[in-house]
Amino acid sequence: MAATRTFSIIKPDATRRNLTGAVTKMLEEAGLRVVASKRIRMSRDQAEGFYAVHKERPFFNDLCTFMTSGPVVVQVLEGEDAVTRNRTVMGATNPAQADEGTIRKAYAESIEANSVHGSDSDENAKIEIDFFFKPEEIVG
Ligand code: CMP
Repeated sequence: MAATRTFSIIKPDATRRNLTGAVTKMLEEAGLRVVASKRIRMSRDQAEGFYAVHKERPFFNDLCTFMTSGPVVVQVLEGEDAVTRNRTVMGATNPAQADEGTIRKAYAESIEANSVHGSDSDENAKIEIDFFFKPEEIVG
């Protein structure tokens, strides 16, 4: 199977605890290659735009406040079946339900402060990558 790409965010709870390297190591050990990476402070507009699909959910406002509360590291990951591979190593959204050996089991603090985001489909991966990266910033 050919390599595909997915989009990842290392969230403020993880950057605050200096876990950027530890999380990235788990991504790499899962067979994913970081082909783009930048540390940014998301604006409120960016957070609301990125999570627009969740606009009507009760947690939307708190989620946007959390995602703008500190630095995040946005990444493009490449590998065989990258979306599924990344979702497997991330673990369940709620860390209480995450399997052993996953990033969220190891590091997440709560369903909101759950350390990482990963695209849920190839279609959304493309939209999310384009939201944060120009083509020339991605070097495979
Ligand atoms: P993420 O993959 O970034 O996509 C949406 C985020 O909303 C999710 O991870 C969670 O961190 C956050 N979130 C907060 N509360 C909830 C909830 N009750 N159900 C699902 N996601 C939630």
